[in-house]
Amino acid sequence: MEKMKLKMLYSEMRSDLDLIEKELEKAVNSSSDLLNEASLHLLQAGGKRMRPVFVLLAAKFGHYQIQQMKDVAVPLELIHMASLVHDDVIDDSQMRRGKLTVKAQWNNRVAMYTGDFIFARALEYITNIKNPLAHRILSYTMVEICVGEIIQIEDKFKLDQRLQDYFRRIKRKTALLIASSCHLGAVVSGADEKTANHLKRFGYYVGMSFQIIDDILDITSTDKELGKPAGSDLIQGNITLPILFLKDSPEFRPALEHAISGNMTEIERLALVKRIRQSDAIPKSKAISNRYLQKALKEIDALPSSPAKKSLRDIALYMGKREF
Ligand code: IPE
Ligand code: IPE
Ligand code: MG
Ligand code: MG
Repeated sequence: MEKMKLKMLYSEMRSDLDLIEKELEKAVNSSSDLLNEASLHLLQAGGKRMRPVFVLLAAKFGHYQIQQMKDVAVPLELIHMASLVHDDVIDDSQMRRGKLTVKAQWNNRVAMYTGDFIFARALEYITNIKNPLAHRILSYTMVEICVGEIIQIEDKFKLDQRLQDYFRRIKRKTALLIASSCHLGAVVSGADEKTANHLKRFGYYVGMSFQIIDDILDITSTDKELGKPAGSDLIQGNITLPILFLKDSPEFRPALEHAISGNMTEIERLALVKRIRQSDAIPKSKAISNRYLQKALKEIDALPSSPAKKSLRDIALYMGKREF
């Protein structure tokens, strides 16, 4: 259902996205069967390919040439994929895109090198772009994702953190890569600076909204929809927005502490998740996600009308409303 609707949104870009898909398959090919298998395992498990889509749509505000833009869209998806392979090691996650994670199917060491390999391939692709600004944006983004993931490790199991800490974390680990996808699409295609900045900010706000929804869904979806236990973030010690709204409530505090202690039974987990779902933390978190979404839409309102503008709008709205 989700995939079908997305496909409709992407339909006008079908042939260009097919080309990106073929390039991605080529990109993860190497002389090692193990690296090939582990990378293809994740690539072929699907995924929304949101970052390439944003690159291509942003490039439509400049001089769009797919042969040039593939060298931007492919590395952006590769960086995303590599960070997922590493993220699943950090989060000790078993399932990704409905399949076993690389770390679960093979092991942590294979996942480390598969991630590094995919990162390196991303760098190789971007060398086809002869624009130092593009390289700087990409390196900066990669550094910030690493910083974000490390901060996430440092902030783990700390219930007493500020909303600000959470927002900084998700900015680095998620929003910046989406912002950079939009920004690079615009910069490399030669869109004017004002347009490029609107697109960059659009991506940033969409990314913030998107990660908040991801964090809400971790609680509100069923185990089956998620392909992992609901409340996994909390059990793993990742303190997300809904939890920050509840941490000072006497009704929730003891249960939250118990959850991050790692001693929670399955029955207790399901009961806590159910209570959080019924609490005001969910509508409060949704309202914040929605505020970011509105900011995103405002950024593109400033751009000239075009089919690409409409697609960006539709995708942002779709992302903002996704149910699982
Ligand atoms: C998952 O990103 C990680 C987050 C930033 C929440 P996506 O939801 O874009 O992952 P795929 O590529 O579609 O699997
Ligand atoms: C997103 O974080 C992963 C990265 C941006 C690297 P999460 O840990 O919330 O993503 P999922 O839930 O594993 O997809
Ligand atoms: Mg994770
Ligand atoms: Mg998550």
